Amino acid sequence: MEPITVKDFEKLASEKIDRNAWDYYSSGANDEITLRGNCSAFEKIFLKYRVLVDVSKRDLSTEILGNKISMPLIIAPTAFHKMAHHDGEVATVKAAGRSDTIMILSTLSNSSIEEVASAAAGPVWFQLYVFKDREVTKDLIKRAENAGVNALVLTVDAPLLGQRENDIRNKFDLPPGLEVKNLVNASKENLIAGKDSGLAAYVKENLDASLNWKDIDWIRSVTGLPLILKGISCKEDALLAVSHGSDGIVVSNHGGRQLDTCRATIDVLPEVADAVQGKTEILLDGGIRRGTDILKALALGAKAVLTGRPVLWGLSFNGEDGVVQILNILRNELDLAMALCGCRDLSVINKDLIVKN
Ligand code: FNR
Ligand code: LAC
Repeated sequence: MEPITVKDFEKLASEKIDRNAWDYYSSGANDEITLRGNCSAFEKIFLKYRVLVDVSKRDLSTEILGNKISMPLIIAPTAFHKMAHHDGEVATVKAAGRSDTIMILSTLSNSSIEEVASAAAGPVWFQLYVFKDREVTKDLIKRAENAGVNALVLTVDAPLLGQRENDIRNKFDLPPGLEVKNLVNASKENLIAGKDSGLAAYVKENLDASLNWKDIDWIRSVTGLPLILKGISCKEDALLAVSHGSDGIVVSNHGGRQLDTCRATIDVLPEVADAVQGKTEILLDGGIRRGTDILKALALGAKAVLTGRPVLWGLSFNGEDGVVQILNILRNELDLAMALCGCRDLSVINKDLIVKN
């Protein structure tokens, strides 16, 4: 089968990679209500389109925090890319470069910050998990700076790991030969294998569940990099992010992997956009599977969206080329949706396009 949609890649990836990896990539928390809700919420939003606009030339390019990119779609941070393909995060960053967009590298990668940054042809942002040991955290930030990373993305919705039940059943662990590469120096390169998810145990042991708004000031004091908070899920926290000087926020529920039954991100976006009033850049992730999903997110106030699992499906099926294919599918679908809605470029996309049933 020649894949033509993101869903085609999902099926092909599920047939290609082993159970431990597939379950880790695809899982949401508990009953996976939010995981499904992130996607199904887009189906309840309808587009109102305009006709007889000259759309013969279209421009999807944009700029986020000084990074010029070819489209409003960037790669979300996801852990452990070598379970999908032996080239891992290096393949992903090369695909981002070929697609002229940003890759956000996870703290929990199988390739180091330095390896990924040196293979990059475009901007790389670094997703930060804060370790209980602040020296370890500071070292990650400094390494990211030295490697030329363009922004820090602090994940704020994971004081503990959500309960992914397939990972518990599988006693999830990294396959032999793979490690948490950025943490080798700190001797924290192995998950904690045991009777439950080895990742849940690792997070509980190492990440700082006391992380709070005061720590944003600490991060600010150790780095001048632009700071984006990922995992904002209501207007109150969006406003706190603004008052703590964040350069951007990602409206995200971690792809439904953390608190099950929280709201779909696209349903949260309008209240956040309304509260923030342009005082910080708004990004969104969760459930983006079609170009029309991207268009709806932009219309409701996002500057760009992130895609998580689809990139892993592309990587699993066909390495670097597979990731390029996934990004192209979404780019082409967005381009077509814009043309059919009478939008020549991103500046004309607004709430007038949206009807909610
Ligand atoms: C994630 N996500 C994530 N987020 C983060 O801040 N750091 C991380 O290391 C990871 N790791 C991770 C692994 C896997 C397998 C998945 C699926 C997700 C969350 C990710 O950045 C993003 O919020 C969601 O994936 C977005 O939802 P979609 O696009 O997968 O529906
Ligand atoms: C996850 C972590 C690593 O969602 O963010 O699996």
